[in-house]
Amino acid sequence: MKTYHPDGTQNPTWWQTAVFYQIYPRSFQDSTGDGIGDLQGIINRLDYLVDLGINAVWISPIFPSPMADFGYDVSDYCDIHPMFGDLATFDRLLAEAHARSLKIILDFVPNHSSNQHPWFLESRSSRDNAKRDWYIWRDAKPDGSPPNNWISMFGGSAWTWDEKTQQYYLHSFLPEQPDLNWRNPDVVDAMHNALRFWLKRGVDGFRVDAILCLIKHEDFLDNPPVAPGSFWEAWGHQFEPRYTVNQPEMFEHVRLMRRVFDEFEERVHIGETSTEDVAGLIPYYGRPLDGYDIPFNFKLLHADWHAPTMRQIIEDYYDILPAGGWPNFVFGNHDIHRFATRYGYENHRSVAMLLLTLWGIPTLYYGDELGMEDVFIPVEQRVDPWGINMPEGDFGRDPERTPMQWDASPHAGFTSGEPWLPVADDYQQRNVASQLADEQSTLNFYKTLIQLRRSRPALHNGAFTFVDGLGDDLLAYLRAADGQRLLVCLNFSDQARPVDLSHLTSSAETLLSTHFTAHSGTTFTLQPHESVLLQLK
Ligand code: GLC
Repeated sequence: MKTYHPDGTQNPTWWQTAVFYQIYPRSFQDSTGDGIGDLQGIINRLDYLVDLGINAVWISPIFPSPMADFGYDVSDYCDIHPMFGDLATFDRLLAEAHARSLKIILDFVPNHSSNQHPWFLESRSSRDNAKRDWYIWRDAKPDGSPPNNWISMFGGSAWTWDEKTQQYYLHSFLPEQPDLNWRNPDVVDAMHNALRFWLKRGVDGFRVDAILCLIKHEDFLDNPPVAPGSFWEAWGHQFEPRYTVNQPEMFEHVRLMRRVFDEFEERVHIGETSTEDVAGLIPYYGRPLDGYDIPFNFKLLHADWHAPTMRQIIEDYYDILPAGGWPNFVFGNHDIHRFATRYGYENHRSVAMLLLTLWGIPTLYYGDELGMEDVFIPVEQRVDPWGINMPEGDFGRDPERTPMQWDASPHAGFTSGEPWLPVADDYQQRNVASQLADEQSTLNFYKTLIQLRRSRPALHNGAFTFVDGLGDDLLAYLRAADGQRLLVCLNFSDQARPVDLSHLTSSAETLLSTHFTAHSGTTFTLQPHESVLLQLK
């Protein structure tokens, strides 16, 4: 049995022991009746977040934007979209959150701006404009076709022709999201100043978007075709993005951004780091730890719900973590179908059990604490450009972005108007109010679990040991600190499974079960899909 010992257990930084919670602001709480969530809505729900027990809130982009990619196309990095509120409301949100000991993390979108950003409007105005080189412009090939075979993450060529100035500009995502040229020092300065603008206001950190795309190969070489069965093929790509993602110079920019964070006290630097395997996360930590505090680890999120697979990923990750680097895990966000749908509803509490008891910082996605599932969106109501551009894949992200289900009133208490995406049909049964009233609801399960994680050092920074020999359907591990030993055991199968812990302990007490069962003794039977957290003698 191999044991992993978190470093720095004596004095963890706030984010090392925190539970993060992502809010997709359009869908959390509307306060104006326009059918779209806003900052005042979040303020109105802060007490809910405190009651849930989370420590830090990451809010997807709230900046001015034409909303071609629902906020990931920023037209002003230093203001608030009027749809969400204004700077004064944001300052109030920050003050109200801090008064409740909640941290606020914003989303920074460095790779691209909106095509309506004044910088791009200037850049495209003429070839000799001072901001021409703030974006990536290239001549057509002699036959008029794009400069190379690079494709957009959302489908189609990554190049769009500009009639007026007779050149192509590059966009790793939509044509409405032109890529900024990070090889230009003026761009670097302007973007660092945008970070400072918010850090000075008191935000507790940033999640940095799509960092893998930040720098492109300077020779603009054609990408090779994807290998059959490869990671990128699964994302619907015809070409492997060898010259467009994870370029070595990009890591230097992660470090430079990190220095901006370090000008302030105790801010957290989180990266959206999409890598093929856990080894790809390691360079993002930096050497020595001068990169991301939390390079998002999406590996479990893309894995099958299968105990040996999950264990392998966790072990591979723990094995190669740099000294002092903290692990983290993610199971859901605004870009992936909800896990209650991906893994089957019967497993959704086990996912929470795993996420909140592993050694590693957990990030929750709004609504998962209710067991929210994907919502089917009829074709005519679909709005996500990725899903619309690539209809042959299952890439549309609307199903996981539907309004939060607060109560049984019309539109689930999300809005008094028409919601921008439909509310789930089951909202009258599945909502915060009804689950608070039901002791054995998923929401109360999460609350207890988060409370346990916060109050037991063994869970947030205790030593971690896999328990072997319980069979392929079970995943079990020990967490230990301050003389306390906790055991987590998850049953991945749809069959009951006997568990024998007599080699580990003389008695065990159930702290929490996904099924709210109290097991006692050292041998017992887990129900199909049941997971337990036990205190060992
Ligand atoms: C990131 C975001 C995603 C967005 C894309 C382009 O992957 O999470 O929502 O569409 O970047 O900014």
